[in-house]
Amino acid sequence: MKLKEAWRRFTPEQVQNFLRVGHEGREHPSRLKTIDLLAEMTSVLDVGCGTGVMFELIRERRPDIDYRGIDVTAQFVATARARFPADAHRFTEGSLFELDRLAGTFDAVLCRHILEHLPHWAPAVQHMYARARRKLVIIFYLPPRPLTLRRKRDERFERGFYTHTYDLGRFVDHLLNALTPAPTEVRIHPRQGTSDPRFPWGDRENIVYEVVR
Ligand SMILES: C[S@@+](CC[C@H](N)C(=O)[O-])C[C@H]1O[C@@H](n2cnc3c(N)ncnc32)[C@H](O)[C@@H]1O
Repeated sequence: MKLKEAWRRFTPEQVQNFLRVGHEGREHPSRLKTIDLLAEMTSVLDVGCGTGVMFELIRERRPDIDYRGIDVTAQFVATARARFPADAHRFTEGSLFELDRLAGTFDAVLCRHILEHLPHWAPAVQHMYARARRKLVIIFYLPPRPLTLRRKRDERFERGFYTHTYDLGRFVDHLLNALTPAPTEVRIHPRQGTSDPRFPWGDRENIVYEVVR
């Protein structure tokens, strides 16, 4: 599958700071909300873990959780391992379409700001859900919304940037509620912090979907 992965072309400095500092960094409300949703979870798989920003936060706030991260971008995984040498074994280079390669079970699977970048996001959700023993947590910075005609015309900012937005009704009804086995509950947590104000989508708020098995 061909993915457009701008991250592979990041400079070393861009890699170091990517999503770690600034408005969308470690203390972003959507990250703190994720920590809340990990209450009672003993293990987590962080899909698209990047350079380990969530790992750093989880280690600080929930050091008891057994953490694993996987990311398709080699230089991100290398940076995470270098940053946390004692925990290097927790980071795997690989795609979310190859989760079968990971041994073990995970109470929770996290997927933060990933689906927006995938052309084939529907099977990705089922793959991740299959590895979640208790819940799948999906966080969007481009929240799914109904696609009005006007909005389709106005989505010019997505040109040249590999992003997808979703139809909210289809996402919940056709995808989350259609997962196998059926979730016992899908909880939607809106207004979890805005994106970086420097971007055209900066006023959009993160939204968190908590899919409970
Ligand atoms: C916007 S970043 C989010 C990073 C991190 N989850 C966070 O919230 O800070 C998107 C990440 O998804 C990763 N990614 C993209 N496609 C992927 C795939 N097919 N499998 C695994 N990771 C992927 C990228 O390498 C990048 O690290």
